[in-house]
Amino acid sequence: MDYEERITAAELGEGEERNEFSLRPQTLSDYIGQKTAAGNLKIFIEAAKLRGEPLDHVLFYGPPGLGKTTLAGIIANEMGVDIRITSGPAIERAGDLAAILTNLNDNDVLFIDEIHRLNRAVEEVLYSAMEDFALDIIIGKGPSARSIRLDIAKFTLVGATTRAGSLSAPLRDRFGVSCKFEMYTQDELAEIIRRTAGLLGVEVDNESIAEMAKRSRGTPRIANRILKRVRDFSQVKGNGNIDIDITRQALNALGVDYLGLEHLDREILRTIINRFDGGPVGIDTIAASIGEERVTIEDVYEPYLIQAGLLHRTKKGRVVSAEAYRHLGIETDMDDDDDQLKMDIED
Ligand code: ADE
Repeated sequence: MDYEERITAAELGEGEERNEFSLRPQTLSDYIGQKTAAGNLKIFIEAAKLRGEPLDHVLFYGPPGLGKTTLAGIIANEMGVDIRITSGPAIERAGDLAAILTNLNDNDVLFIDEIHRLNRAVEEVLYSAMEDFALDIIIGKGPSARSIRLDIAKFTLVGATTRAGSLSAPLRDRFGVSCKFEMYTQDELAEIIRRTAGLLGVEVDNESIAEMAKRSRGTPRIANRILKRVRDFSQVKGNGNIDIDITRQALNALGVDYLGLEHLDREILRTIINRFDGGPVGIDTIAASIGEERVTIEDVYEPYLIQAGLLHRTKKGRVVSAEAYRHLGIETDMDDDDDQLKMDIED
């Protein structure tokens, strides 16, 4: 199964964008979690507004589904300006970016998702746009070619990436604010599920909310998606209210286990255990063994497996934990205090 089709895929599926927008918080006071990023942004936004200036350029980085686009929308809303949303791969030529930039008004927010995927020619146009609010355009060819400078609106670029390490240094240096997005705690996810259930007008008890939060892999997008699927089950198999029986029935039917893992997550752990004796094993070898792209494993699957303490990234390769053996019901003589493992852990 493609990872976009999974219930726990943190990426947006087709047709999901519009729906999610209506559930998204519009203000910082409605935004749950990411306390450091949101707390700092509140101050920077207030200061920029006091000075009547655009907010400095902001970089968001971290795993998918943690609310980067949502927070960009909130920045625009709190600044009282418009937002234009695009993504690195969607801007193919320098001219595409120039067209977007020349249509912005002062203080507007330009949100570029997957900014690490901008091509070099486009990225170079972005440098002067970010630094001097100007575009350098070359007119003509050969010896008569000359460059003219076109002023553009004083905008705020909000860039988002799942891989901060893939950003070129000149681009990274042009962001005045950099925010790391962390996975959400179960309490925060429970609060988000409660809020969304209220917006959807569905009754859910606390036990069911806690169960859904536990299985949401630290990711609001997954929490909201699970809630919607459980609601489907409650309407068809129950009386429309969500209780713990319906919740468990729905999640089991969807193949989401009690830690939020799905088939491919378990496959990664099982492959490392069965074929590589629990590791250490290199990421490329794992990718080849299960037939997935290395970047997909790194960006989509690994962050939660690491966060859940099931997988460790060591200098010699990936290693599963004793907890992973227990979770899969596979016997091991490893214990939780394996010193060799702890010593080597990179992050
Ligand atoms: N819905 C999705 N993410 C959210 C968040 N961080 N806060 C509130 N509601 C959300």
